[in-house]
Amino acid sequence: MTEAKNLWGGRFTEKTDETFAEFNNSFSFDRRLFFVDVQASIAHCDALFHAGVLTRLESERIKNGLQTILKRADYDKNYFDELPSEDVHSFIEARLVQLIGDAGRKLHTGRSRNDQVTTAFRLWLREEIEEISKIVRLVQKTLIEAAEKQRDAVLPGYTHLQRAQPILWAHWCLAYFEMFSRDRERLDEVWRRVNVLPLGSAALAGTSYEIDREEVARQLGFEGVSANSLDAVSDRDFAVELVGACSLVMVHLSRLSEDLILYASSEFQFIELSDAVSTGSSLMPQKKNPDALELIRGKAGRVFGHQIALLTTLKGLPMAYNKDLQEDKEAVFDTVDTIKICLQAAAIVLKNLHVNEEKTREAATKGYLNATELADYLVQKDVPFRTAHDTVGKIVMFAISQDKELNDLDLSDMRNFSEQIEKDVFEALSLEQTLANKNQIGGTAPERVFEALDGAKESLAREEN
Ligand code: ARG
Repeated sequence: MTEAKNLWGGRFTEKTDETFAEFNNSFSFDRRLFFVDVQASIAHCDALFHAGVLTRLESERIKNGLQTILKRADYDKNYFDELPSEDVHSFIEARLVQLIGDAGRKLHTGRSRNDQVTTAFRLWLREEIEEISKIVRLVQKTLIEAAEKQRDAVLPGYTHLQRAQPILWAHWCLAYFEMFSRDRERLDEVWRRVNVLPLGSAALAGTSYEIDREEVARQLGFEGVSANSLDAVSDRDFAVELVGACSLVMVHLSRLSEDLILYASSEFQFIELSDAVSTGSSLMPQKKNPDALELIRGKAGRVFGHQIALLTTLKGLPMAYNKDLQEDKEAVFDTVDTIKICLQAAAIVLKNLHVNEEKTREAATKGYLNATELADYLVQKDVPFRTAHDTVGKIVMFAISQDKELNDLDLSDMRNFSEQIEKDVFEALSLEQTLANKNQIGGTAPERVFEALDGAKESLAREEN
């Protein structure tokens, strides 16, 4: 097996230590940048031709060579492994020289791996961010479908994990829809900052050749060119931002998972998860475990870890490029892989779950979730809210002692606490009325929630066009 020659052998007399080479090489993972690195090389080749560095013939030969490399990689499974290389950049150059000879040795004129690697990384990320955003959108769509499928399902809403006030299942779904909308906004912003061309910064000081950087940017679809060569080769803010945006996606996915894990437990029995996303126990025959959701919750930590790893790598770096920066790739690659599979898993879980509407309705009507309603009822009768709150607290204590819900108390018993309570109190305490009252923007009144559902659907549909 031949090996790609190092790109820097000239001033060395001794061989590279094997263990060090293994430590230093990044080809095992940065081969993922192969396609984009070739793309950027084609644009650089054009720029060198226009700068008068390459003849037309040379630039044509280089570009044809690069295209051939792309094709070979596509059909030859062993193409990468047959030529052990330091990194993806050395690999491509070695393959090019193998293919077209000396002309290939001219391609690296006026550039460094320092501006090359961050250019490739940005090109790669641009596509991946779009892909992630699409899958977040799929999760949003699935949330809307889950809401619509059981539009009238109610849930007890919680604070402190104590039953608080009734809500609609669709309201819960839309809460997560909102989180994912913000996530997509953040991903868009990161995309915009990723979309700046560093190529032409060379090693650190800029290039000595007449490379039209703006033209290169246009060719590669970048919105602009970096303004400072030192910053351009050492900036990895965009990687931190991406992992940050992904961390928040994972926070949201993890909270959603936690909710659903609880709801699926025998204690709650609010939802039924599909067999397709659950596992059994090797020991306990009755078990149906929500593994998909637990894995999503568990993998959040991994993404947060990558963010800390990246920040720590960057914090003490002297200007400009340092090899520490090679650590950026595995952190980002794993983040991207993890978030994509977690989002897909979440979509499958949501698509296949069923809300046990009877159970959730029962839960939403037990545990004094309408106590606030009773206080509001008294407020309507001109009792100051603080007094009403106090009175209802006492009524709840009484109801607990009777082992009854508020609606099951006798009117006369309630009137012992407040003369203002009349027959119409029972309607005010009904689940329907409790929900319908929350009728301001953002509230859980069915009218509002259905409106919000329509709005959410429209906003997704608008993007499709
Ligand atoms: N594999 C390197 C990385 O990922 C490429 C850049 C190497 N540059 C250098 N001057 N050694 O950062």
